[in-house]
Formats: sequence, structure tokens, C-alpha cells
Amino acid sequence: MKTIVSGIRSTGKLHLGNYFGALRNFIRMQNNADNRCFFFIADLHALTTHPNPAELHPNVQNVLTDFLAAGLDPEKSSIFVQSDVPEVIELYLMLNMHAYLGELEKTASFKDKARKQPENVNAGLLTYPVLMASDILIHNANEVPVGKDQEQHLEMTRRYARRFNNFYGVEYFNEPVAYSDGTEMIKIPGLDGSGKMGKSEGNCIFLSDDEKTITKKVMRALTDEGPKEMNSVKPDYIENLFTFLRVVSTPDVVEYFDEKWNNCEIRYGDLKKQLAADIVKTTLPIRERILEIQSKPEILHKAVTIGAELARESARKTVREVREIMGFKPF
Ligand code: TRP
Repeated sequence: MKTIVSGIRSTGKLHLGNYFGALRNFIRMQNNADNRCFFFIADLHALTTHPNPAELHPNVQNVLTDFLAAGLDPEKSSIFVQSDVPEVIELYLMLNMHAYLGELEKTASFKDKARKQPENVNAGLLTYPVLMASDILIHNANEVPVGKDQEQHLEMTRRYARRFNNFYGVEYFNEPVAYSDGTEMIKIPGLDGSGKMGKSEGNCIFLSDDEKTITKKVMRALTDEGPKEMNSVKPDYIENLFTFLRVVSTPDVVEYFDEKWNNCEIRYGDLKKQLAADIVKTTLPIRERILEIQSKPEILHKAVTIGAELARESARKTVREVREIMGFKPF
């Protein structure tokens, strides 16, 4: 039996990058009966950027809706909201005693955020990786499905596990590894010529977008006058369109447009129409379930209630044992 833990920050609706990069893997993993899965919405982590309180809950609600609509199943995995499991905060405090300023300041995500929000370099931002380590270690995970941008955090998680074990002379925490099923973690490109689809890039196609919106977004994708020479190398923004096509379309479609490109006969309008249609084919059933869940909010309530119960059971056990290891004793 393997324990799998992963989380997504609650910054709003999920986009195709989240779906192909993360969510689809979560679903594959939960459907393997040898896995014990915990998937959660990291709303405490979201606090590091000071979200508007009025938006915090709707954001969690949107991510949760997308989780369930895409196929995460509360009967197969524990699906929960991070702040519903307060035990993680206690472990976070304990681990903070073994996390050092020097290493935290050197973390790439911290340096990046400190540059982007110089007016808000708070302690929560600094210890973001410790909270993430707590999320993972509290269930003593073996594997964590995350993208490349989280590798450093995961490495820190392993370091904290090792440090805890060494300091207290125990073999308590596993050293969790990034999950990989052999297939590469797929990165969905932006259609505006940027490398990546992302919330902060403002170039997202959301799972909840309708056909018209998706088509409009795809038709706006950056292109040019087309290749001038046979078999030329594709510029990044055109390669992005092909990367996208490879994810959502069938191989013969990719081959067809590749050939057209190589012959200098490519018509971007045709490619975009095909791409939009194939994206819609993937997202339409999810969108339908999103609408259904939105009309029945009790589905959300039920899912996170059993999800949090399962997560807390596992978390309580860890916190009890960690307290004991650290020398706390009840009177
Ligand atoms: N830091 C992750 C991100 O931004 C989200 C996250 C929080 C997470 N806790 C986690 C991911 C634990 C995996 C495991 O994407």
C-alpha cells in the first residue's frame, strides 16, 4: 500500500494546465486500489499572498467543484480542505523548530514571491515549504504527484523528514518522492506565446469555460504569416500550438498539421478550429458536471465532510506520535 498526497492552491477555477498537469494524474492514482490517496485544497497556503476574505471561500468552492467534476471520487480518495485539518498546523509549528532561516531564504519560490510582493514578505511566505512538508509528512506519504516547479519544496520535505528522524533518533517519517508513472508531467503552454498556462499569466482556458469562450480563446492564439521554407524549425509560439494538439488531439491530426507545416501549406485557422474542437471534447463532460454540482451544493458538503474525517484520523495519529517522540507527556 502506497500513500499519496497532493494539493492545489485555492487561487480560483482550475485551468487546462491544472487538469493535464495534475488532476488527471490524481484520478489515475485514486483508481489504483493499492494507493491510499489524499488530495486537498491548500487554502492556508493561499493566505501567504493575502487574498481578499470575500474571495477565499468561493475560490475553495470552485477548485473543489472542479476536483469532483473531473472525476476525483470521495469514495476512493480523501478529498479535503487544508484548513479543515487543524492538526497540520500543529505539525507545522513543530517542524518550524527544525527549519532554518538560511535555507528558507534561499528557496526559489520565496525569492520569487519576495520580488513580486516586496510590501508583503511575511513569515508565512518564508515558511511556505514547512507547511507543505507538514501536509505531506502528516500522512507519511510515499509519493507526491507535483510538477517540476514543486521539486525544491519536495526536496525540503525530505530534508525535514530526515532531520527530524536524525534529531530524535527515530525512523519515523518516510522520505517522499515526486510521483512519476513514467509518462512525463505534461506542461500545457500558454496560447499567447508564453511558455506556460498559468493564473498569473492570464492566458488560461478554464475547465468551466463554454464552447464559445474556448473557441474564442484558441482563435486568438499568437501566430504569424506561416513558414517561408520547407521543413523549417517552428518558433516557440507555433510549437506551443503543436504541444497543445499533442495533448488533446489524435496522432493523425498532429501528423496532418505537421506535414502541412513542413510543406508550407499550413492554415492556422484550420489548426485552431481543430484544436478548439478537441479541447471542447475533453472539457465538455467536465463542464456539464460542474453545472450539475453547482446546482447541488450538498455534493460538496458531503465530499469534504468525509474527506476531512479521513484526513484527520490519519493526521491525529501522526501528531500524537510526534508529540511523544518530541517528549511531550500528558499529565
Ligand atoms: N505548493 C503547491 C503548489 O503551489 C501546493 C501544495 C501545498 C502542495 N501543499 C502541498 C502540493 C502538498 C503537494 C503536496 O502547487
